[in-house]
Amino acid sequence: MVYGVILAGGVGSRMGGEKPKQYLTVKNKPIIIYTIEKFFTCPEFEKVIVLCPEQWVEHTKNLIKKYISPALKKVVVIEGGSTRNETIMNAVDYIEAEGNLDKDTIIVTHDSVRPFVTHRIIEENISVCRKFGACDTVIPATDTIVEAANGKEISDIPDRSIMYQGQTPQSFKAMKLKEVYNSLTEEEKNILTDAAKILVLKGEKVALVAGETFNIKITYPYDLKIAKSLLEDEE
Ligand code: CTP
Repeated sequence: MVYGVILAGGVGSRMGGEKPKQYLTVKNKPIIIYTIEKFFTCPEFEKVIVLCPEQWVEHTKNLIKKYISPALKKVVVIEGGSTRNETIMNAVDYIEAEGNLDKDTIIVTHDSVRPFVTHRIIEENISVCRKFGACDTVIPATDTIVEAANGKEISDIPDRSIMYQGQTPQSFKAMKLKEVYNSLTEEEKNILTDAAKILVLKGEKVALVAGETFNIKITYPYDLKIAKSLLEDEE
């Protein structure tokens, strides 16, 4: 089975404001609705799991009812976790409780705040994950990446031609991801910035899928302006 997993468990502290950024309206719909639309219209998904903070579960269900009621057949909304990776593990636990976790179960995990993902990216994630077991969506780095280990002076400037910027979706064989995640120490879990690193830390292979420059993550207020103009272009 192939599950879409939309990660909406964060609070959006860098954005600020009263509600988590995934619930902000851009043009005429909340950001999370654009993202769910991209997923529920993808025929490969038998189910799409949306994970959000506990106090936003009912609100999220109501938004789906209001904007995209046909999605209710395929989409479930459950509580996220205290970190992004714990949110992913809640999705895996849900799949296990449904009796559908086996070695071929695939999860396509995606940030709720990347509404510009395309069906091409999602479909490539599914096919590459089937073949390689895990994949990450990336674009070539445009700026030179400067490493400063102490935050004060440069410790390295890696060769830009082999540097990429990570986006989402990130897709995994869910059983393997859970097994490797559970083998990590608390210290290892604390240094993880994303889910692909769970596997990378243990020497497991993660293949690349080409992303798009417009597949931005809405993080700061400035990104809302970009999102608005991208949506106007889509008309
Ligand atoms: N996320 C999640 N569960 C968490 C933390 C984050 O599902 N415990 C989700 C966010 O909702 C978001 C995605 O992961 O869709 C990417 O994370 P990020 O942009 O860092 O979102 P926030 O954690 O909400 O933002 P901030 O770091 O500014 O607080």
